[in-house]
Amino acid sequence: MTLHTVAKEGEIDLGTNKPVTINGENILLFHLDDGYYATQSRCTHLFMPLKKGKIRDGCTLECPFHRAQFDIRTGEPVKWANFPPGIQLINTIRKEKALKTYPVTVEGDDILVEVVAEVETA
Ligand code: FES
Repeated sequence: MTLHTVAKEGEIDLGTNKPVTINGENILLFHLDDGYYATQSRCTHLFMPLKKGKIRDGCTLECPFHRAQFDIRTGEPVKWANFPPGIQLINTIRKEKALKTYPVTVEGDDILVEVVAEVETA
């Protein structure tokens, strides 16, 4: 596990996110009322980018493509893709799946994200 400094306090407006890349992993760093959270940057439904997703109820991210919703703090799906009508056919093979999340800490003015380094095997 390695901590990576990815932003400074005050850099990310409340209710917005900042895309960061750590060790090739594309991550969104969110600033919510109760702190900072990090998730994978692509939706688990059809892998579309979540950067422009809406934050609802302070901590739920809605994918802008088919409206799946995820709890930003845990990555767990709150509601699965339901738009446009007919998307349920795709959902028979694309089952609910949580977003990957990453621990975030604040040290002084630095915001750090923890990423587990890949272990190479011979
Ligand atoms: S890609 Fe996000 S809900 Fe379909």
